[in-house]
Amino acid sequence: MRIMVNKMQTHEFLNWDSSKISSFRLALVSWYDVNKRVLPWRENTDPYRIWVSEVMLQQTRVDTVLPYFERFMQKFPTMRDFAYATEAEILKAWEGLGYYSRVRNLQIAMRQVTEEFGGVVPDTKEALLSLKGVGPYTAGAILSIAYGKQEPAVDGNVMRVISRIFEIDEDIMKPKTRKTFEAILYKLIDPEHASAFNQGLMEIGALVCTPKKPMCLLCPLQEFCEAHQAGKELDYPVKIKKTKSKTIPLIAVIIEQDGKYIVEQREDTGLLAGMWQFPTIEALPNENDELVKLKFLRKYGLTLELADNVVTHVKHVFSHLVWQVELKQARILEGELSGRTKCLTEKEMTELAFPVPYQKMWQAFLKQKGGNQE
Ligand code: ADE
Ligand code: SF4
Repeated sequence: MRIMVNKMQTHEFLNWDSSKISSFRLALVSWYDVNKRVLPWRENTDPYRIWVSEVMLQQTRVDTVLPYFERFMQKFPTMRDFAYATEAEILKAWEGLGYYSRVRNLQIAMRQVTEEFGGVVPDTKEALLSLKGVGPYTAGAILSIAYGKQEPAVDGNVMRVISRIFEIDEDIMKPKTRKTFEAILYKLIDPEHASAFNQGLMEIGALVCTPKKPMCLLCPLQEFCEAHQAGKELDYPVKIKKTKSKTIPLIAVIIEQDGKYIVEQREDTGLLAGMWQFPTIEALPNENDELVKLKFLRKYGLTLELADNVVTHVKHVFSHLVWQVELKQARILEGELSGRTKCLTEKEMTELAFPVPYQKMWQAFLKQKGGNQE
């Protein structure tokens, strides 16, 4: 039944007449107008601000994004300020938000806009999709929110709400499922209020139609919602679990020398590219000390003495793998710094972007150090 062309799928889910569609739009848009949160990217329809906010919000919650967004706009008030900032500056502005390829792609795309589109964020889907890192979601969000165009913007919140309203049984983890949602939304979206319609769905997903405890009694869409009427809200969205991600055990070391610390810049490509960290090797948690030292020697050309006790354990879950890091203190017995390794003061370190797990290690280290001195 589900292997049908898109038009048929749409009919299957959306056999509403035009008056039902109108009352759905009215219920959603009027609810949004009254209930929307006051958020800095909602102050105006500047496409630059909306674009930045949508990229930040893609894998990150509103509460987390707020201070980042404010700082970002202070540091880079115009697209040009951001487009030509240094890599270190943009990584620092994004430090802690994760998925750092987002900020690199955003900068490349904003350079494209500056150089190929005269500094004006394009207002067509085709032009937007030609920009680095801009996919259907970001394009739809910019077109509807900044330009008021009738384009859907399907993110996780929107999929949850729509899958419940229409009892959509397709697996939302499959990339092609997004097309089903888009096909429905093209018919449903309010041509006069595309921005309020799309943001209304996002807002209901965030505030009312939450993953585990949807507040159906407060929901403006209740009378349209098939899953609610069937008492099956929690059966949607259908999400087939991925196989468990791989765990990588790591050992990191803090090496203090005359009040300075040894840090290393990660490779220019791959996970957390270009960010800074303490020297780290892959090793099992209770791996033989000699083997651990040999690995540090091979990777950094340094012969270390490792402290016996562990400063902290940090676990960090990425989208497709998990780090399990053990942090120790160490001392250099022999060897010179080389390559991508530097010895920096605490103040110099604050200028650099460290991934969240390394920030946690640093905090644990400082706490232990403070504790020892008292
Ligand atoms: N999540 C993604 N886009 C959003 C927006 N414009 N407002 C609130 N939450 C969002
Ligand atoms: Fe979600 Fe309940 Fe509203 Fe349906 S009625 S959209 S399940 S909150």
